[in-house]
Amino acid sequence: MKKRVVLVTGASGYLGGRLCRELFNGGHHVKAFVRRTSDLSSLPPPTDGGTRGGTLELVFGDVTDYQSLLHACSGCHVIFHAAALVEPWLPDPSRFLSVNVGGLKNVLQAYKETGTIEKIVYTSSFFALGPTDGYLANETQTHSGKFFCTEYEKSKAVADKVALDAASEGMPILPVYPGIIERFNGRLPGYIGQANDRFSFSHVDDVVDGHITAMDKGKPGERYLLTGENASFRDVFDIAAMITQTKRPSFGIPLLVIEAYGWISVLFSKLTGKLPLISPPTVCVLRHQWAYSCDKAKAELDYHPRSLKEGLSEVLPWLKSLGLIKY
Ligand SMILES: NC(=O)c1ccc[n+]([C@@H]2O[C@H](COP(=O)([O-])OP(=O)(O)OC[C@H]3O[C@@H](n4cnc5c(N)ncnc54)[C@H](OP(=O)(O)O)[C@@H]3O)[C@@H](O)[C@H]2O)c1
Repeated sequence: MKKRVVLVTGASGYLGGRLCRELFNGGHHVKAFVRRTSDLSSLPPPTDGGTRGGTLELVFGDVTDYQSLLHACSGCHVIFHAAALVEPWLPDPSRFLSVNVGGLKNVLQAYKETGTIEKIVYTSSFFALGPTDGYLANETQTHSGKFFCTEYEKSKAVADKVALDAASEGMPILPVYPGIIERFNGRLPGYIGQANDRFSFSHVDDVVDGHITAMDKGKPGERYLLTGENASFRDVFDIAAMITQTKRPSFGIPLLVIEAYGWISVLFSKLTGKLPLISPPTVCVLRHQWAYSCDKAKAELDYHPRSLKEGLSEVLPWLKSLGLIKY
């Protein structure tokens, strides 16, 4: 395998940290793009010579600060652009566009100015393709743009258009679209609403593998859904109950109740400055289906997502060991 100098934005994040670790283990020179304020605990220590000769270097900056990004891109062959604001709600919604769209535009500009970059693997999201009420979507779907549940969804859809325009101009960008990356850190006493709408669930390690294979085998300009099993939240709760040997929820919490709770949480958030766990936009998301086929990634990227049951069997005990959930 060719060893490359790779820049990973969002390196301190849940996905980015694991991606850096795998690239490092694969023997690449990883430039981990982080902010001065970032929590670096998910990254391997900056060092020379992992077992396969991998190296990791911290590069400080902000994706909204073009000069810091341009400096970080120097000498790189590949950019993994995973940095984003990933929240359903923020008190200042304009930040979604400045970070999630402005950040991608800066990456594309830095690509043009750098001259050494062969591929840009851009982490989009299933949200960028829009809801799939009543059907299963694939990479041919683009967001209708008529309605957005969240500002995050809107920013990812706008950024997707920026990425597709760049690809049509010949830039070597590959947008990849993960499903919901399993990361449950709370408990709900009941099913959410009818809980029958389907969502696509991905395991973080499968998504990381999909990113790395996109670098090696992906065709520039092509889009790849890195989604997983399409399942309802009812399925998630039932499988989680089976794995943790706890009781399944015995009732459904109506979405209207959750929405009211969301509005109250947003009010509290404005007073306390702490982000709400549930907000009205989250409830809007829950009112739709987001189910996708990852057949193209399976065929072209050798992508083999694990089942929801396999994923939860790994994630739930891990979260328990970290003290993030109890059962
Ligand atoms: N989580 C999911 O279910 C999911 C599903 C589909 C797609 N995705 C996509 O996957 C990517 C990673 O998501 P994640 O779940 O790993 O999120 P995460 O844990 O919140 O990580 C986000 C990363 O972006 C960085 N970041 C945010 N604003 C930045 C800025 N202005 N400049 C530089 N870095 C900035 C954060 O840095 P700090 O540590 O300094 O805050 C962090 O490293 C995102 O593009 C997201 O849209 C996520």
